[in-house]
Amino acid sequence: MIQVENLHKKFSKNQVLTGLDLNIQEGGIFAILGPNGSGKTTLIKIILGMVIADKGTVSVFGKHIKNKWKYRQEIEYLPQIANFPGNLRVKELIRMIKDLRQQPCEEKRLIELFGLQPFMDKKLATLSGGTKQKVNIVLAFMFNSPLIILDEPTTGLDPAALISLKELIQKEKQEGKTILITSHIMQFVEEVADEIVYLLEGKIYFKGGISELMEKTAQTNFEHAIAAIATKKSNA
Ligand SMILES: Nc1ncnc2c1ncn2[C@@H]1O[C@H](COP(=O)(O)OP(=O)(O)OP(=O)(O)O)[C@@H](O)[C@H]1O
Ligand SMILES: [Mg+2]
Repeated sequence: MIQVENLHKKFSKNQVLTGLDLNIQEGGIFAILGPNGSGKTTLIKIILGMVIADKGTVSVFGKHIKNKWKYRQEIEYLPQIANFPGNLRVKELIRMIKDLRQQPCEEKRLIELFGLQPFMDKKLATLSGGTKQKVNIVLAFMFNSPLIILDEPTTGLDPAALISLKELIQKEKQEGKTILITSHIMQFVEEVADEIVYLLEGKIYFKGGISELMEKTAQTNFEHAIAAIATKKSNA
């Protein structure tokens, strides 16, 4: 589904990715983990063609993405920070995205799932952080694409919304979709992820199952296993 080879990315003097290789096969939930600033969002944006790598190649759906944009129509993306125009009402934003995409769309079920009906006429600037994130989630799930990329989808969600999000992700997986998620909430990752991809010092430090990672780090608790990698490396 996604092949990344020898990816390098530098922001002025800050070398973020240093020869990163990654292969994501089709179907299932992949969690991209790593400390703050390790380059998870940068990697996602490169896959989406929103950031251009200095070196290396990216293929999505079996084709190189360089100078292409049409493949993006087959990807749903939830940005880590959604900069919605504050003056738009929720229903206007949803309509605008539908008009832009011109694809079959089922937003009603999602609006109900996240209890957004009372907010449809409200301006985005007036919404609470968690409610804004629910709108962000509706926009990311309302079309039917084979690849879904979620950058910190749990941010600000209350427990009920978190349960709905988990159900939604599992449903998409059952339909054969490939789902890429970044999250710092290890309990959430443990519940949903089939495979972990751990980014550290510009490369993939680990890719595999959660039990495999715990064996590798000699930890019995997933959160501690993840923390152990970062601490060991920073002390090395
Ligand atoms: N547009 C940009 N210009 C300059 N530096 C950037 C830019 N985008 C990201 N960076 C830098 O690249 C590094 C990686 O950032 P990135 O957002 O990819 O990290 P992350 O792993 O997603 O972190 P977090 O867990 O905090 O979301 C950071 O040092 C960040 O400051
Ligand atoms: Mg990020």
